[in-house]
Amino acid sequence: MRAVVWHGIGDIRLDDVPEPAIQDPEDAIVRITRSAICGTDLHFVRGTMAPMEEGTILGHEAVGVVTEIGDAVRGFSPGDRVLINSTVSCGACRYCRMGKTAQCDRANTNGPQAGTAFFGGPASTGPIDGLQAEYARVPWARNTMHPLPDNVSDEQAILLSDIFPTGWFGAELAGVTRGDVVVVFGAGIVGQFAAASAYKQGAGRVIVVDGDETRLAAALAQHCEVVDYNAEDPVEAIMSLTDGIGADCVIDAVGVDAERPKRGPAAVDAEQAAAFDDEVATVAPDASADGFGDAHQWKPGDGPSQVSQWAVAAVAKYGRIGIIGVYGPTAERYPIGAAMLKNLTIRMGNCDHHSVTPPLIDMVAAGQFDPTALITEHEPIGSAIDAYEAFDRREPGWVKVELEPSTR
Ligand SMILES: NC(=O)c1ccc[n+]([C@@H]2O[C@H](COP(=O)([O-])OP(=O)(O)OC[C@H]3O[C@@H](n4cnc5c(N)ncnc54)[C@H](O)[C@@H]3O)[C@@H](O)[C@H]2O)c1
Ligand SMILES: [Zn+2]
Ligand SMILES: [Zn+2]
Repeated sequence: MRAVVWHGIGDIRLDDVPEPAIQDPEDAIVRITRSAICGTDLHFVRGTMAPMEEGTILGHEAVGVVTEIGDAVRGFSPGDRVLINSTVSCGACRYCRMGKTAQCDRANTNGPQAGTAFFGGPASTGPIDGLQAEYARVPWARNTMHPLPDNVSDEQAILLSDIFPTGWFGAELAGVTRGDVVVVFGAGIVGQFAAASAYKQGAGRVIVVDGDETRLAAALAQHCEVVDYNAEDPVEAIMSLTDGIGADCVIDAVGVDAERPKRGPAAVDAEQAAAFDDEVATVAPDASADGFGDAHQWKPGDGPSQVSQWAVAAVAKYGRIGIIGVYGPTAERYPIGAAMLKNLTIRMGNCDHHSVTPPLIDMVAAGQFDPTALITEHEPIGSAIDAYEAFDRREPGWVKVELEPSTR
C-alpha cells in the first residue's frame, strides 16, 4: 500500500509499504478513506520536534472503515465507519477514566511517563505508524476510535480527528467564559478552530494574530478581529483594543515553529534576533536553519519563543493562557518571571481527544457547525509530497490539506 514515510529531516517520501496486520488483541485495522496533513507533521520534517525513527509512517488524522478487529475489541465490527482520534488511549487506566486520555498510562509503549501516544510521531511516542496511508493499525481500538453517524460525511469528519477537538481544548485550557476577550495567536487551521470554539464557549470578542494575509482573511470571515504582526505591534494593538487592560484569555495555536516579524513596528532588533538565532540552534539542533533547496523548504520557525513572549505581554493581570501549539523537549525558554509578576494561569498540552470529541461530533451532525469551509485543498495521496511542500511554504490559501488515499 502507499504511505507517506519519514526518512529524515527534509526527507519524506511516498513509499510502497506492507499493509498493517493485527499485532495485539486490542488492535483494529482500518481502511482509510480520508486523511490530512497537520502543522504538527511539519515540525517532524523541519526537525523542530523530538527525534523520529526512520521508516515511520506520518499522519495522525483520519476517517475510515474497520476491516478487521482483534479478539479483545468490543463495541466495533468490521464495516463500521469510524473517526480515528489522533491520540491513542486505553480506556482503563486512571487517566483515561478522568477523561485525561492524552496522558494514558498504557498507550505509550515507552512507559507511563513517556508522554502522549499518537499516530505518526517521534520515537518517544512509541512510535506508532501513522494514518497518511491506505490502511492503518489502530492500537487500543475500542478507545481510539469513535463511531460516525451516517449524516456526518468523511469531509466533515476529518477535522474532528484532531483539529476541532484541539481548538475546543485550547479554549478550555485558556478558561474561556462568557464575555471574555480572547486572543488567538496563529491563524492556521488550529487557530481557526480555537477562535470558533472560543466564540461557542461564550467569548465576547476574539482577536486573531498572524502574519499571513490569507489566513487572517479566513479569521475575518469568522468575524474575528485580526492583527497582522508584520504591520502592527500585536501587543500594542491588543492593549489599545482592550482599553489598556489586555486579553482575558490567550490561546497559543502556533508552537515551536513561531516566526519573528519580518517588517513593521514589531520587527526585532539585533539583540533579540541573536537571541532567537541561539534558540533555534538549541530547539532544532539537526535542522537546516536556511531550509533545503532554492525554495528554502522545511525551514524551522525563526522565533521559537516569540508567541510565548507576546502571550504573556498581551494578557491581562490574572489572565489565562492555554498552549496548544506544540513545543518539544528542547524548547526551554519561557518568560516565567513576567508571567509570575502578572499572577497568570498557564495551562497546556495535547488534546484529550477521546473525551473532548463526542459532543463535537453531535454539533456537526446537528448542523450547528460545518467544519468543511476551512478545508482548502483536496489532494490524492499520489500528490502527498507536493502537497506537504506547498503547505510547508504556506502557499497563499493553503490552510488545510485533506488527503484521499483511495484516489491516485
Ligand atoms: N496540542 C495538540 O493536541 C495539537 C493538535 C494539533 C496541532 N497542534 C499544534 O498546533 C499548532 C498549529 O497547527 P496548524 O496545523 O494550525 O499549523 P500551521 O503551521 O498551519 O499554522 C501555524 C500558524 O502560525 C502562524 N505563525 C507563525 N509565527 C507566528 C507568530 N509569531 N504569531 C502569530 N502567528 C504565527 C503561521 O503563519 C501559521 O498561520 C502546531 O504547533 C501544531 O503542532 C497541537
Ligand atoms: Zn493534527
Ligand atoms: Zn489509559
